[in-house]
Amino acid sequence: MPSLLASSLVWLLAATSTLASTVVDASFKIDVHSHVVPDFYRQALIDAGYPVKTLGGVATLFTDGFPVSVWNLTDHIAAMDTMGVNYSTISVSAPGVNFLAGKGLAAAALATRLNLAMYSYTQAYPTRLGAMCILPLPDIQASLAEIAFCLDVLRFDGVGLYTNANGTYLGDGALDPIFDLLNARSATVFVHPVAPGCSGAALGHPDPMTEYPFESVRAMENMLLTGQRANYSSINMIFPHGGGAMPYLATRIAGMASLSFLGSLNVATTLAQFKGYFFDTASSTTLIQLMAMKEFFGGTSKILTGTDYPYVPLAQAKPGLAAIQANGNFTSAEMAQINNQNALSIFPGVARKLGFAI
Ligand SMILES: *[C@@H]1O[C@H](CO)[C@@H](O)[C@H](O)[C@H]1NC(C)=O
Ligand SMILES: *[C@@H]1O[C@H](CO)[C@@H](O)[C@H](O)[C@H]1NC(C)=O
Ligand SMILES: *[C@@H]1O[C@H](CO)[C@@H](O)[C@H](O)[C@H]1NC(C)=O
Ligand SMILES: *[C@@H]1O[C@H](CO)[C@@H](O)[C@H](O)[C@H]1NC(C)=O
Ligand SMILES: *[C@@H]1O[C@H](CO)[C@@H](O)[C@H](O)[C@H]1NC(C)=O
Repeated sequence: MPSLLASSLVWLLAATSTLASTVVDASFKIDVHSHVVPDFYRQALIDAGYPVKTLGGVATLFTDGFPVSVWNLTDHIAAMDTMGVNYSTISVSAPGVNFLAGKGLAAAALATRLNLAMYSYTQAYPTRLGAMCILPLPDIQASLAEIAFCLDVLRFDGVGLYTNANGTYLGDGALDPIFDLLNARSATVFVHPVAPGCSGAALGHPDPMTEYPFESVRAMENMLLTGQRANYSSINMIFPHGGGAMPYLATRIAGMASLSFLGSLNVATTLAQFKGYFFDTASSTTLIQLMAMKEFFGGTSKILTGTDYPYVPLAQAKPGLAAIQANGNFTSAEMAQINNQNALSIFPGVARKLGFAI
């Protein structure tokens, strides 16, 4: 037995190193921003009181003032094929399980059920799908257990966080144990915006329209001013939608944070911290948005491909992807970074799984 084991291991190592020498094609597309909406999750939202309204004659569930698309796995893979997306890291969009905060173990149970569902999808399509773990924050102990379960047992590609969980924003010291664990693992985290922690900010309009982008800024600003990001800088953090409004507001925030009453933070250090994040292209594929990202980062090494399918429907997501190169006037080397190289740099497990050199 031991010799059989040993020879299998040698074979496995040889196979792995052979595969690992494959150079990934520049056009291979990794979508870091797409969502699943399993039927039981839709039902849980309805049971919790999210409204179902008639939209174009069809009963439609709304969360945060925005319609939740109908979803199934077959459609998801078909949409990837139509868009020319090769691999997607799936996650659960807002409101996650935040709406069950304080309801005993319900949030943790729903998070685990969602993670097991995402696991089954990744097992059905191992070369097409990976998953980002959903956590039952603000429950710290249950979330720590869920991270270990997702990363060690389910072998997920990373962890999903929201800008706030029941009003606890990223940056809050209460989340330090979570950041500590993610930092120790140099984990990759996808931060999805949710409705602001204070109700009414959107004036009754859909939260995704304006509040989500500002939520991303709010979370990055809070992590700056509390010092949490500086403490836990090994976590690879992705903010969607071109970083919200961050490319536009970064110098303003850095300037104010340098005032003595806010801690006299060094402007260059603040900007360097912000430039350490990754931003995706979901709903951010116009010339002004792509140029803002490129100017902000000083290049394309932090820009990732994102579609936000199915919340952004296929009819919009597909032309959005096609617009990146034309609107950004990116070279093929820059497109290779945006399509896959940048993603593979923070998802080394995906590179290993697919046999790509990084
Ligand atoms: C997925 O949804 C589509 C409609 O978008 C439907 O035609 C198809 O039958 C569904 N597939 C499964 C397996 O439920
Ligand atoms: C990536 O997707 C494109 C478009 O669907 C396809 O032509 C190509 O063969 C895929 N690449 C790999 C390595 O699977
Ligand atoms: C959620 O927020 C509400 C309002 O601030 C608070 O009363 C409640 O305790 C919070 N629940 C949890 C689980 O933190
Ligand atoms: C950052 O680390 C310092 C030093 O260990 C600690 O005092 C502080 O509470 C931490 N702050 C946050 C928000 O993690
Ligand atoms: C596009 O980029 C090329 C250099 O890669 C530059 O020569 C050209 O002027 C740019 N076009 C526009 C419209 O910005």
